[in-house]
Amino acid sequence: TLVLGIEGTAWNLSAAVVNEDEVVCEVTHTYKPVTGGIHPREAAQHHAQFASWVISNLFDEIAEKNISPNDIDAISFSQGPGLGACLRTVATAARALSLSLEIPLVGVNHCVAHVEVGRWKTPAKDPVVLYASGANTQVLAYRRGKYRVFGETLDIGVGNALDKFARSAGLSHPGGPQIEMYAKDSVKYVNLPYVVKGMDFSFSGLSTAATDALQKHTLEDVCYSLQESAFAMLVEVTERALAHTGKTEVLLGGGVGANMRLREMLDIMCDDRGASFYVPEKRFMGDNGAMIAWLGLLMYKAGDTIEVEDSHVNPNYRPDMVDVTWLKE
Ligand code: ATP
Ligand code: FE2
Repeated sequence: TLVLGIEGTAWNLSAAVVNEDEVVCEVTHTYKPVTGGIHPREAAQHHAQFASWVISNLFDEIAEKNISPNDIDAISFSQGPGLGACLRTVATAARALSLSLEIPLVGVNHCVAHVEVGRWKTPAKDPVVLYASGANTQVLAYRRGKYRVFGETLDIGVGNALDKFARSAGLSHPGGPQIEMYAKDSVKYVNLPYVVKGMDFSFSGLSTAATDALQKHTLEDVCYSLQESAFAMLVEVTERALAHTGKTEVLLGGGVGANMRLREMLDIMCDDRGASFYVPEKRFMGDNGAMIAWLGLLMYKAGDTIEVEDSHVNPNYRPDMVDVTWLKE
């Protein structure tokens, strides 16, 4: 089985073809804002402008492996969550491909795709998943036919909180990697808010407080403290989800998962609990076409295809709205 998947919920436009065993090819074109963060309309324009470039390059690459577009069994795309304008642009491209190749369309949930690519590319079988990216921050786990959300951000994603602080400190976008670099030069913790409510977390106040702390403390000390606070919140909720579900694996996903300090903190927590900790290769952590193609393949094989008329996007598509048809209990 061969499935072509397209991702474009935010800044990354990426298309890939996968089969049961591997990513056959992947082509990506990334929108880079000239100033500040992501401008939704500009990102959508970027996707519209480069969609045909990405797809034709992908077709050239599969041709080198003697695969023709007519060998593809289904087209999958991110139905949400994400920026509305970006989602609609990518959905249009996916529908056009589905109609012209006369093959079924599969609409996938972006968050669930992060989970499934992690299960594909690591030994994790039934993990508690920490999905930490720019716009999304959730703790997920499978239970009775759905990926349930055990905890999530009440405001902005942890990555956006890092990026927002970084911008106010005069660092360029994306801020996460730079904060990680500055944090390495400090071990001095300055007091910042720690906000966990029940199983949910909030990052907006933390980001603002970190900006204010720059008045009195060095950039290194604030970066260090921001990471310690934000990541401790993520680890606490992940640990409680482990305890609550009785699961024995933790899987990390999303762009913030690149951070070595976050990995270290999760690793220590898992060690203490006797749980296994899994991190996929970096290319599968941030937004990528391969994960959309892979979940598309799982759903296609489960008969989970949609008609073009029913292929509307949903910017607030939650992972727990998806029936996990491809997993047998
Ligand atoms: P989504 O649509 O899933 O929210 P996204 O558009 O935010 O995805 P990702 O690639 O998943 O894209 O994540 C990007 C985020 O990851 C940015 O906020 C960036 O600052 C953050 N990030 C990247 N590398 C690091 C790092 N080393 N440490 C901390 N944060 C990082
Ligand atoms: Fe993502």
